Amino acid sequence: MTFELPLPPTPTLETERLILRPMRAEDAAATQRWFPDWELVKHLHAGIPWPYPPDGAETNMADCMAARARGEQLYWAITLKHGDDELIGRIDLKPNVAEQDMRGFWLARPWWGQGLMTEAAERVTQYAFEVLEWPFLYLNNAADNRGSHRIKEKQGAELIGVRPHAYVCGELLRETWILRREAWLARRGRA
Ligand SMILES: CC(C)(COP(=O)(O)OP(=O)(O)OC[C@H]1O[C@@H](n2cnc3c(N)ncnc32)[C@H](O)[C@@H]1OP(=O)(O)O)[C@@H](O)C(=O)NCCC(=O)NCCS
Repeated sequence: MTFELPLPPTPTLETERLILRPMRAEDAAATQRWFPDWELVKHLHAGIPWPYPPDGAETNMADCMAARARGEQLYWAITLKHGDDELIGRIDLKPNVAEQDMRGFWLARPWWGQGLMTEAAERVTQYAFEVLEWPFLYLNNAADNRGSHRIKEKQGAELIGVRPHAYVCGELLRETWILRREAWLARRGRA
């Protein structure tokens, strides 16, 4: 059945340059190193504490591990294929249709602008459509977040709404998108 819970255990996924592996409690240290960066958090939802507390990653990690144990969400640590297995970002999936919010991601700033999140998003999308067989993904971003906007555009998502939303940096317009399974598979087939 569509959007059936509990979700299966998070699988390890590979891309050309990345290993997306299940996030684990020890990833809190790398998260605490990279995540408290204003340029990174400013366009994330306002529930994220700022200034980021010294135990912010550990607290968030405990919440994530509990949500995963309940089978509600899948969390991948983004690591470099030829690296040391350390988390450099994160991507997650959840069937939150009601809030039109089904995928989240962030990447540490030293790795921006190399196409890495496009690569991670495509792989996780493939998993959502081909393995979980979700019919669509609702996605969203702050309209000012041009990088995140562009990833959705590149994936073939359709913009379906714009309305105000509370972000860490204050109220901004939120763009909501739908990425349909059939459209994504057709695009991949043509590529
Ligand atoms: C958004 C984010 C994940 C992008 O990661 P990334 O690995 O740099 O993204 P990619 O390189 O795969 O692709 C980004 C695309 O956006 C474009 N882009 C990035 N910044 C841009 C800007 N300011 N204006 C216009 N385009 C921009 C890039 O040129 C690229 O498009 P292209 O391939 O057509 O050139 C990263 O910046 C990040 O972690 N930001 C903070 C967290 C965040 O905003 N998460 C998403 C919340 S919705």
